[in-house]
Amino acid sequence: MFADAFRAKKVFITGHTGFKGSWLTIWLHRLGARVSGYALPPPTEPSNFVASRVEELLEHHYLHDVRDVDALENAIREVDPDVIFHLAAQALVKLSYEKPRDTFETNLMGTVNVLDVVHRVGRPRVCVMITSDKSYENKEVVWGYREVDEMGGYDPYSASKGCAELAISAMRRSYFHPDKLSQHRIKVASTRAGNVIGGGDWALDRIMTDVMRSISSGRPVEVRSPDSVRPWQYVLEPLSGYLTLAAKMMASDDPALLSAWNFGPMVGNEIPVKELVEMVIRDYGEGTWKDTSDPGQRHEARLLRLAIDKAVWDLGWRPRWGPDRAVDHLAKWYRKFYHGGEGQMRAQCEHDIQDYENSPFIGEVVPLTEAAPAR
Ligand SMILES: NC(=O)c1ccc[n+]([C@@H]2O[C@H](COP(=O)([O-])OP(=O)(O)OC[C@H]3O[C@@H](n4cnc5c(N)ncnc54)[C@H](O)[C@@H]3O)[C@@H](O)[C@H]2O)c1
Repeated sequence: MFADAFRAKKVFITGHTGFKGSWLTIWLHRLGARVSGYALPPPTEPSNFVASRVEELLEHHYLHDVRDVDALENAIREVDPDVIFHLAAQALVKLSYEKPRDTFETNLMGTVNVLDVVHRVGRPRVCVMITSDKSYENKEVVWGYREVDEMGGYDPYSASKGCAELAISAMRRSYFHPDKLSQHRIKVASTRAGNVIGGGDWALDRIMTDVMRSISSGRPVEVRSPDSVRPWQYVLEPLSGYLTLAAKMMASDDPALLSAWNFGPMVGNEIPVKELVEMVIRDYGEGTWKDTSDPGQRHEARLLRLAIDKAVWDLGWRPRWGPDRAVDHLAKWYRKFYHGGEGQMRAQCEHDIQDYENSPFIGEVVPLTEAAPAR
């Protein structure tokens, strides 16, 4: 998919011990990149980082905090990366209610620290900053949020990601302005993806963790918000978006690339939680679920959709797997793990990546002239 874009490139991933970061490390290693990681130890037990023995793929493996700006600077100076993917975050909405300060410090100041170090070190590089679809002020409207829409966030996690977006934008305009690229050669973009599912996610309060833990221990899956609609996507979808964006940023000086990008499912592929759970139970071959919604529970957005037109038209990126294929791969991944695959999941990740790379895009893209005829 990316030809030789990442071959022999030095890539620095923050959050490489987490769910998405561990998959990104495996994919970049497959693409011939020299990958280094900076994060706290894996946030869960089990984890894909351990199950897939990701540490073996790393050139440098830093176990430090993104709030520790000196350690971060030392690591970035030592690796001197061509590309940085910043994923490290306190990534859970529910935990953010309990730990708002940690959440803002990690998600906002961690992001500021990465860009501050990049500014101080001052060498040409590409930075892809990962925030979230939750960075949008969610008005629960039926149309998808576009990159120009207002940042916001009801809960501390969402607001910390909205703040991170504002910080990225301010630092880009102040130090890495696209119009002055010839002077600084530092390219910064941000990405907002939706709810990610995939093998190897055991984060607390994430739907797939609840589903797989319950099914594997013979308990019914408790579903808090069965009717909430989310832009579910397999983990490889947003990662392919981040990689597509980084590859284009390396190859081109187009200032339009240095902006915010949504990566989400095709319209109509967003489904309610209960439908997703039923699909997993069907594909896994066992399990039941029950509705445990509680009118007194913490606020949770009911509807969240992303408009992906910008990525489709301007990056040439599109989703490749709809909910059926995503759930099919996910069920196979966990089935293998829970049937003796612990420590040997990298082959399954690589198999999924290869399958994904060979999959065609979903759906037809109508040529712009037909979609929007000249008036
Ligand atoms: N998983 C999703 O559905 C989803 C959706 C939208 C956005 N995101 C974003 O994608 C990124 C990765 O998410 P994930 O699901 O892999 O999360 P995760 O919780 O699995 O991993 C988080 C990573 O960040 C690291 N980390 C946390 N606090 C840190 C700190 N203070 N210093 C250094 N490292 C720290 C952890 O060690 C881990 O490597 C996050 O920025 C998250 O907000 C995730």
